[in-house]
Amino acid sequence: MILYFSGTGNSKYVAQKIGNTTGDQIISMNERIKQGNTEPLQSALPFVFICPTYGWRLPRIVENYIKKVTFSGSEKVYFILTCGNHTLNAVYYVEKLCRYKGFNLQGFDAIVMPENYIALFTAPDKEESDAIIAKADAKITQVATDIRDKSCLPVFNNTDGIKGQISSGIINPVFYSLIARADGFHTTEKCIHCKKCAKLCPLNNINMVNGNPVWSKKCTHCMACICGCPSEAIEYKNKTQGKTRYYLSV
Ligand SMILES: Cc1cc2nc3c(=O)[nH]c(=O)nc-3n(C[C@H](O)[C@H](O)[C@H](O)COP(=O)(O)O)c2cc1C
Ligand code: SF4
Ligand code: SF4
Repeated sequence: MILYFSGTGNSKYVAQKIGNTTGDQIISMNERIKQGNTEPLQSALPFVFICPTYGWRLPRIVENYIKKVTFSGSEKVYFILTCGNHTLNAVYYVEKLCRYKGFNLQGFDAIVMPENYIALFTAPDKEESDAIIAKADAKITQVATDIRDKSCLPVFNNTDGIKGQISSGIINPVFYSLIARADGFHTTEKCIHCKKCAKLCPLNNINMVNGNPVWSKKCTHCMACICGCPSEAIEYKNKTQGKTRYYLSV
């Protein structure tokens, strides 16, 4: 069973490509998290978790979801993290989560996809992102083949030593307390009141009030709202004006 979480489509794209090779069932953690659905899941085949990297670790909402849900049938799992650049020491925290859950980790891999974090950085333009995805495709095919063949993935040791420990261990909690906040999202006159941002938000953090989106405090900075808005009517503080929105529709 393949479970993905995706803000802007990269991890969904990887999930679908792996599913096309393995023929395995695909489940959206976005939908489950949005609905507050923590029903148990059962699979005879290994569980394959696919999600972005946030602050050089699994997104906290994904980790919390996995902790809450009972997984049965197979104890074997794979974790595939998409990233804009580097997962650093994320694998250490994946191993820790596996011990907590009693999972038998068959492999971890990082797949570089286009950067989507426009609240802090810049997303590549269409030409650049197409080139990044084309490069990722070869790796996704290899990972998918290994999973289909029930092989362990090659040992992942690209954690970048002390830099990885500091980023994933010390900066990650700072990122959640100081940076991943909803304060600062606002709309412009380009809003067409279509409600898509509210539908996309996996945390139900956006409510439509008199036809306009209003952000509450429960945000994980997934970038789904700001990058998925069809009118580019959402801005974050003064950080996103004029920037390319990145959203891979799959
Ligand atoms: C809140 C946030 C934090 C991020 N942190 C990292 C990171 O630590 N390392 C990295 O390489 N990319 C980071 N990224 C980039 C995403 O992991 C990357 O673009 C990912 O493929 C997006 O996947 P999605 O489209 O499935 O949401 C971050 C993006 C966001 C929105
Ligand atoms: S998705 Fe964009 S256009 Fe639609 S309601 Fe939200 S802000 Fe407005
Ligand atoms: S408010 Fe926007 S950035 Fe925050 S969790 Fe919801 S969709 Fe993601």
